[in-house]
Amino acid sequence: MPEAGRPTGPGRLFGRRRGKKLRPARQALFERLLPRLAITHADLTAPLQPRQLFPACPTEVWLEVGCGAGEHLATQAARHPQVGFIAVEPYLAGLARLLAHVQERGLGNVRVFADDAALLLAALPEASLARLFLLFPDPWPKSRHAGRRFVSPANIALAARALRDGAEWRIATDDMGYCRWTLRQLADRDAFLWLADTADDWRQPPADWVPTRYEQKARSAGRACVYLRFRRRARACAGALRDARPGLL
Ligand SMILES: C[S@@+](CC[C@H](N)C(=O)[O-])C[C@H]1O[C@@H](n2cnc3c(N)ncnc32)[C@H](O)[C@@H]1O
Repeated sequence: MPEAGRPTGPGRLFGRRRGKKLRPARQALFERLLPRLAITHADLTAPLQPRQLFPACPTEVWLEVGCGAGEHLATQAARHPQVGFIAVEPYLAGLARLLAHVQERGLGNVRVFADDAALLLAALPEASLARLFLLFPDPWPKSRHAGRRFVSPANIALAARALRDGAEWRIATDDMGYCRWTLRQLADRDAFLWLADTADDWRQPPADWVPTRYEQKARSAGRACVYLRFRRRARACAGALRDARPGLL
């Protein structure tokens, strides 16, 4: 439910953008590297071709929403140099840590967007992403704050449009309310198939998993984490499904 009197929609952020002042070395790195890697709001006004954002045109593009300090994205980028990675993180101190990883590892396949991921998803061409990560999103556990959750009908529609057929969307959380919410929200739409046959498929992380900061905090506090993987259904198939179940969809 939207909160009374508060504007909603793309570009409306609820988390913080600024934290403590950056250390001088990190501030200097931020000022030097961010302009080279940033996808700007001006970039979103022209048709955006994500593979062309990278110096060596990558085979495919993966995007992480709310990458925090970027340890997951940087490790995946180092493992998959042929893939282009877009890190989205409005919290500038998190972004500064990601930039430190990019520099230390000499990553040439990372670009960043420092605002609401919905703005970027909306600007991407149809079927232009091969993978999407949403790892430990802010849970907003109170029901009156449910409208702040990243998993929402509007953002699911944006993700479904931007992901190509067969692409994977990974969502991890340590908040069981958010887990149930996500499963309900995605089950209500026919664009995604939950890839789980047994409980281990969501209790255990995928084989190529890279632990994130929030995941480690959750585990240290004794909270269990869930790892949800969804497959973007083939577009023709989703249409056929809708036609076959008119009373349900
Ligand atoms: C709980 S933190 C998790 C960070 C990281 N994924 C991890 O697991 O350590 C959630 C992050 O999502 C970011 N975030 C919140 N809303 C966002 C949005 N609309 N678009 C992109 N990032 C967002 C926040 O700034 C925050 O850094």
